[in-house]
Amino acid sequence: MDIEITKKRNVKGVVNVPGDKSISHRAIMFGSIAEGETIVKGFLRSDDCFSTINCMRKLGVNINIVKDEVYVKGNGMYLHDSHDILDAGNSGTTMRLLSGILAGQKFTTVLTGDESLRKRPMARIIKPLNMMGAEISAIDDNYAPLTIKGNVLKGICYKTEVASAQVKSCIMLASLYADDETIIEEPLLSRNHSELMLNYFGGNFESYENKIVCHPVERLHGCKICVPGDISSAAYFIVAASILPQSEILIKNVNVNHTRTGIIDVIKKMGGNIEIKDERVLNNEPVAEIIVKSSCLKGIEIGGEIIPRLIDEIPIIAVAASYAEGETVIKDAEELKVKESNRIDTMVSELKKMGADIEATNDGMIIHGKETLNGALVDSYNDHRVAMSLSIAALKAEGITKIRNAECVNISFPDFYSVLNVL
Ligand code: S3P
Repeated sequence: MDIEITKKRNVKGVVNVPGDKSISHRAIMFGSIAEGETIVKGFLRSDDCFSTINCMRKLGVNINIVKDEVYVKGNGMYLHDSHDILDAGNSGTTMRLLSGILAGQKFTTVLTGDESLRKRPMARIIKPLNMMGAEISAIDDNYAPLTIKGNVLKGICYKTEVASAQVKSCIMLASLYADDETIIEEPLLSRNHSELMLNYFGGNFESYENKIVCHPVERLHGCKICVPGDISSAAYFIVAASILPQSEILIKNVNVNHTRTGIIDVIKKMGGNIEIKDERVLNNEPVAEIIVKSSCLKGIEIGGEIIPRLIDEIPIIAVAASYAEGETVIKDAEELKVKESNRIDTMVSELKKMGADIEATNDGMIIHGKETLNGALVDSYNDHRVAMSLSIAALKAEGITKIRNAECVNISFPDFYSVLNVL
């Protein structure tokens, strides 16, 4: 599907963004290995999250979807052999987290994914899981399909090479099957939804800055999870309202967990006008309303500890920087190269087609902002975040922008274009 977008004067109104993707995946997986029923309200009905549901169903978990509520009848820690290949589709979270659960099972499973996922590095989970006692084989020891032979696991002390919540969560899930405690240390703190939610399910995980001590427990207990709105989806509207004059939007019920709010800090530092209101706590997660008004953004330097707090938002930050005054430097973001696409290359090449002054570097990009860009024919590379970021760039560009393969927004935000139209 190709989408055509023309210049808009402003965006105004109230936005409800869909449920958080990371939290939706986790609620289904943790509910599946818990005892009793888990009810997930506000579940994100997107392709990625359905990949998780389909895999858990194949492993014998009874899951019923009624509108935006999902009922999971937990199997307890041990699942059933699917006798079939599991397909994680485009979802890195499904593949990496599920591997942690499969490592502790009493059977062998083959786990694959789509063309993009089969190119993403898995050695980062294979290494710690093998150390714990699982037996995992992969193409070139790094790429899916993964064959995971579950085993009785042992606790390990492990320092991850990258700040990745998927790697951390994978080891945390495997630690549930270990006979003693596991300690995980990350170079920088990544999103901490697993820590918060596993403790809500009755797990015993202690967090110390970027270190976690995982104590094995006999069982997890099913519970009710209300999924807040996804700040990664809100980010597109935060930037749209910031760059378009006379805009004002209210984004309701957004997860404002500190490990995810780097986008708010960056836009504020660029001179953006953002207010966080009515903060409250929902299932251990902070939630709030976000008000964004137009502003004149200025270029800044982005790097270091903030990178894991905004890793998925760098494509839309590149758009904000393309319309900001002065230079923006994004560094320490090599991880972008191994996302759903190489997001340094894809964003640089497509924003250049629109006339942006943007250069790729080894670990990020350098952007000199302009007052306006031009509509162009651009490609999403089947990467949902690239498609949505280019759509926001198109709102302020002269002429028509045509985005090829825009249906990939279904990965995380199936209603993206209808929400954008309403605004
Ligand atoms: C996610 C973690 C991040 C993020 C991804 C979702 C998660 O990946 O990019 O979209 O749900 O844990 P990494 O852990 O690989 O950085």
